[in-house]
Amino acid sequence: MHFAKLPHNPRAAHANQVVEEATNRAVRGWDGLLGRLHLGGRAAEYDDLHYEFIGGPSDTMRKKHYDKSLHLLWKAEQMLPWSTFHDATDDERALMTMAETAMRDDERAQRQRISSAEFRALLDREYTPSQKRAIVAILSAIGHGEAYAWLVSASMLPEVKSTGAKAAVTMQVMEEAKHFVVLRELVQAFDVEVPRLRVWEYLILEASLKAKGLDRFFGMNVLIETIALSIFGLLADKPGLEVLRLFHLDESRHTALPTNYLKEFPLSRWDRVNPIRRMRRLNMVLPALPFVMSMEPELCELGIEPFDFAGSVMRKVMTLADRAGFDLPSSSESLARFFNEVFNSYCRATRTGHVWKDFMRAETTRGAETAAVERGIFGTA
Ligand SMILES: [Fe+2]
Ligand SMILES: [Fe+2]
Repeated sequence: MHFAKLPHNPRAAHANQVVEEATNRAVRGWDGLLGRLHLGGRAAEYDDLHYEFIGGPSDTMRKKHYDKSLHLLWKAEQMLPWSTFHDATDDERALMTMAETAMRDDERAQRQRISSAEFRALLDREYTPSQKRAIVAILSAIGHGEAYAWLVSASMLPEVKSTGAKAAVTMQVMEEAKHFVVLRELVQAFDVEVPRLRVWEYLILEASLKAKGLDRFFGMNVLIETIALSIFGLLADKPGLEVLRLFHLDESRHTALPTNYLKEFPLSRWDRVNPIRRMRRLNMVLPALPFVMSMEPELCELGIEPFDFAGSVMRKVMTLADRAGFDLPSSSESLARFFNEVFNSYCRATRTGHVWKDFMRAETTRGAETAAVERGIFGTA
């Protein structure tokens, strides 16, 4: 016997039920009428009759994004033991200790939790001062983008339909929060002044946050996260930056989110072909061109050809935009040709002996593991 039943007055209970049913009819009827007249009504797109958000369960989205995010969830305390994060569970800490106990002495010395001062010494040993400044310029550009990714993904929560899609976006919000605070601590460990946003990036990020409805998916998940993913892909094999492989894995899931969502809830034909929406999408993309040009000194400092990088990013953006149905003012082939011409004209004007190159076929992602992750999303890398 788990519950000891208490007496109650059945007539009072019946009266309460009658009042509730009458009030329910009045409140829901009124909200329904306001809703049909587009004057407000119920705020939540929630269907309590079916215990589901409007749009249905969408278990595919839940499995591909919510379940997978939790399955691949990583903790800063485990990956960056020198940081100030204490986010590991007791079980994870016990496992870390057990793993260290089972190691040989040399392995243990290698894995030993290094202090913040030791990590900073490692960065000083591995990189010259100008390489450190270049890494900080590039990573902080992504770090500022993580702040916007956090805001944009949170704004998408009421925008998407279905229980599965809301669960998926909730995981992105959590991951962007982690990316922002963890990347900030990693960037600050370089002990180099952190630059503010360059205006070109400011324009892309603000346009994405201000975009209408699902176009925020285009600005953030397709364009900005492809840039971020590509930067993580080219730096993840460098000393002290190994954690970026996990950022890369998270971002790859985020770039795939619009395609998976729009498969179930496609853009309306008007949203796709509307000339103003198409122009606004292109306006989000265009500042990326001067942005790459402005980052040329830092990318070159690290031995990265800026336009190989830009070409590989733009190719991936076009692939995802096509797949998700985010139409642009012209076809992806003619835009690719246009970007290629801009990059080559810039190189002809600023470099001696430049020979025309198809930058759109370049690939700058390093490492077999990160390349395999990208192959799964873009089908090319
Ligand atoms: Fe992120
Ligand atoms: Fe992301």
